[in-house]
Amino acid sequence: MTRTAFLGTGHAVPDRVVTNDDLSRVMDTSDEWITTRTGIRERHWVREGETGAALALRASHAALAAAGTGPDDLDAIVYATSTPDHFAPGNGVYLQHQLGAGSIPAIDIRTQCSGFVYALSVADAWIRTGQYRHVLVAAAEVQSTAMDVSTAGRNTAVIFADGAGAVVLGPTDDAGRGILAFDLHSDGRYAEKLWVDVPGSMYHPRVSPEQLAEGRHFLQMDGKEVFRHAVERMPESVRAVLQRAGFGLDALKLLIPHQANLRISEMVQRNLGLRDDQVYNNIMCYGNTTAATIPIALDECVRAGRLAPGDVLAMTAFGSGFLWGSAAIRW
Ligand code: COA
Repeated sequence: MTRTAFLGTGHAVPDRVVTNDDLSRVMDTSDEWITTRTGIRERHWVREGETGAALALRASHAALAAAGTGPDDLDAIVYATSTPDHFAPGNGVYLQHQLGAGSIPAIDIRTQCSGFVYALSVADAWIRTGQYRHVLVAAAEVQSTAMDVSTAGRNTAVIFADGAGAVVLGPTDDAGRGILAFDLHSDGRYAEKLWVDVPGSMYHPRVSPEQLAEGRHFLQMDGKEVFRHAVERMPESVRAVLQRAGFGLDALKLLIPHQANLRISEMVQRNLGLRDDQVYNNIMCYGNTTAATIPIALDECVRAGRLAPGDVLAMTAFGSGFLWGSAAIRW
């Protein structure tokens, strides 16, 4: 039976580091408030002109190099982002072109913080059915340009950030390895608890000067509501995916939770009864990069030697939609 294996991982972040003190200079906040409530110490934001596609390209080159392969060996691209460079087309085609990957299919997945897990499930289905062999999954976000960098936007501006992660996937006949199971969900009742209202095709024009003046182009979040749901749905989903894969929590070598907020990760860990060494967090250095948090963390774990062949890995995400889900993998 064919399964999907990880052949290489990579990540990239802008070189511009924005610290909590930097934000405290332009809005009414403090390093103490941000670290206590979110765990974040610093994040990376793009410079003028630096795009999500450019970040994805750097992450993809790193993943291809780690896999010992090149763009010519790719059969498809799945690109997860909630912040494409333009309204249309999606960013997959920009990555295809900039990689010089030939006229292979390239699709965008727009499921926000759950983007990487959803993208992985599409790529996994393509590989297991034999439709495509080598699939590049890239997840990249530029959230900083949707931030209101003033006191009015402080509940999101201190959290969200920019970055990219990528993985090269391919088939394996080694029954003991690869992606084992997914658990995916949505609940659109909460669509407007974490969203960007405009530009939108329901408006004519898609964004008006009045809407801009009201700040409706900024990311808006009901933080308490997101928190309340995230700490329930993520552990529930990890339990479900491990059960589907045939493992208990004791078999779990590593859980990579979406890096929404360190407090959320800590509550997920406590709910699941996991030890510190079983959960990976890096939000302190990157903030919340939406779809990119999990592949950035995965690449750091791989490069630090935290995963050996046979290890059981789970990843779980929750965010805007609400959309959430998990994957179980035997490394
Ligand atoms: N600095 C200082 N004060 C801030 C602030 C900031 N950056 N952001 C908000 N505040 C203030 C609020 O204005 C409020 O002031 P008030 O009491 O005078 O009205 C006070 O802090 C408490 O705000 P509240 O939103 O109730 O705080 P909270 O305890 O819920 O923490 C979050 C806010 C955003 C940290 C928290 O809700 C959270 O982590 N939610 C989940 C967010 C998340 O993970 N999003 C991504 C999901 S993918």
